[in-house]
Amino acid sequence: MCGIIGILGQLEAAPRILDALKRLEYRGYDSAGLTTLLNGKPIRRRAVGKLSALRQLVAADPAPGSTGIGHTRWATHGAPTVVNAHPHAAGPVHVVHNGIIENFRELREELTEAGCQFETETDTEVVAQMVAHLMAGGAEPFEAVSRTLDRVSGAFALAFLFKDQPDLLIAARHGSPLAIGWGEDEMFVGSDAIALSPMTSEITYLEEGDRAILHRSGAQIFDAEGKPVKRARRFVAVEQSMVEKAGHKHFMAKEIHEQPGAVGLVVARNVSADRSRIASPADALPWDRISRLMLIACGTASYAGHIAKYWFEGLAGIPVELDIASEFRYRDHPLLGDEAAVFISQSGETADTLAALRHVTGRVQATAAVVNVVESSIAREAGIVLPILAGPEIGVASTKAFTCQLATLAAAAILAARMRGRLDKAAEARMVAEYIELPRLLTLALEDEARVAGIAQDIAAAQDVLYLGRGPMFPIALEGALKLKEISYIHAEGYASGELKHGPIALVDESVPVIVMAPRDALFEKTVSNMQEVMARGGRVVLVSDAAGIEAAGDGVWRTIRMPDCAPWLAPVLYAVPAQLLAYHAALAKGTDVDQPRNLAKSVTVE
Ligand code: F6R
Repeated sequence: MCGIIGILGQLEAAPRILDALKRLEYRGYDSAGLTTLLNGKPIRRRAVGKLSALRQLVAADPAPGSTGIGHTRWATHGAPTVVNAHPHAAGPVHVVHNGIIENFRELREELTEAGCQFETETDTEVVAQMVAHLMAGGAEPFEAVSRTLDRVSGAFALAFLFKDQPDLLIAARHGSPLAIGWGEDEMFVGSDAIALSPMTSEITYLEEGDRAILHRSGAQIFDAEGKPVKRARRFVAVEQSMVEKAGHKHFMAKEIHEQPGAVGLVVARNVSADRSRIASPADALPWDRISRLMLIACGTASYAGHIAKYWFEGLAGIPVELDIASEFRYRDHPLLGDEAAVFISQSGETADTLAALRHVTGRVQATAAVVNVVESSIAREAGIVLPILAGPEIGVASTKAFTCQLATLAAAAILAARMRGRLDKAAEARMVAEYIELPRLLTLALEDEARVAGIAQDIAAAQDVLYLGRGPMFPIALEGALKLKEISYIHAEGYASGELKHGPIALVDESVPVIVMAPRDALFEKTVSNMQEVMARGGRVVLVSDAAGIEAAGDGVWRTIRMPDCAPWLAPVLYAVPAQLLAYHAALAKGTDVDQPRNLAKSVTVE
């Protein structure tokens, strides 16, 4: 949610800020802005809409200077207007902010009483106003920022620039990620290493509560108590190819097609050299001593957890509770103390998932993070980290992170089954042999894209679409519906096949495509019965199944998508692909903004 960048450079700042904001645009794209300093004087440019609007504005009305800050916004408080766009300014202070200032109303009242005049509806402006107010009373910039930070609550990352101070930026992290970049007589601050990567690969991740004073010659970092601290400088390589579309029209298309390779990496890292057993960092969890497993996540990541529930229960015999993080944290949940809690999050920054992790830390036997960004808050705070190794995921709709989460969790489930004595050597070797087939099978699943694209043309004309699945295909039905909704704006719902007749079947008529995810497994016949009920009411069924399933389903099916044969327990990983492709091509047919769908942002760092 919102991306921020700050530069103390040797070159013109504005083009570099715009480039960094392009890389951060996945975090929000309602509006964007920047401030540079020229001869000590702040020059601010802000525009509503995509970054291209700001780019045009700066081209027409340049913002010179080698010092600057920039912001790309996902609106929380106040509509996406120019006035509400960042940077926010008060007196000599310009600030960019990612996150939420929770107590901004009371601070705003207090500052208004003290004579400050507010221009915007945003929570951020209180920060600018308070720092400016304290400076007007004689405080130095860092003292004014520190005293302000002591007063504000919420989750935020901030970068400040000051009039007449071309060699100074101040940065602060409290709940939202922030990294400092080290250059040759240049210093940078940004929301992530991807933003900083064209300028430097030497990165320091700020810790919770840290504040930093940046000059071109370096940075001084202080902890929340104001004590000077040393934080590690690391080399973080973000290859250019990882953040480019590599010939695809959209990042989402690129990321869908990266799945065989990305999942292949997960498989390689989670299997022993002789390919006979699982070798996963999940072996640090006390699988044989837990009474239950809690899987907690949001959105697509929660559907990965939902599928993993079937694996951990079925293979390892562990009772599993699956929770949406935003509900879990407010539920009065009786904890036994001997559970393991696993948090699944691509970004590792999702506010609700992070809060849920904090809620159970110290109250359960073990915590683990299944994350893509290993420097993220969730990764840093969990007991162990299971990296999903997907590489940067830029498209707002999660695709390769989902299948990599599944591949990571599948390995953990096999390992848990072994550690609980439920899988002998031969059985584990058999499962591993099936598991290492995943990259090849994903490649096959992608081969039928042209056919799926044709079906998506018809889906694109529908007002409503239903997705059905049974057992571990039920979460795939939920994921298919979510993908379609978020990028094509077509209303879609996912249901457990058996639930249809308990209400949703009333929606079915000839205008409603019903997409049935049904590999020929033990539950196939049951799902086919539900499919017949749909067809009897005129519903147009798209059956996604293997050759045997399509053959067995008989006549009357409107369209079919043929999937490769696979071990039934792994089918959800493969069937994610047609769900993604249907949504992608329906969105293309509708002409929506696939990588940056309306109202969304990639990293949801607010509640
Ligand atoms: C949907 C999507 C979201 C995320 C959710 C959690 O395509 O991407 O539903 O899965 O916002 O995000 P992370 O995994 O970063 O915690």
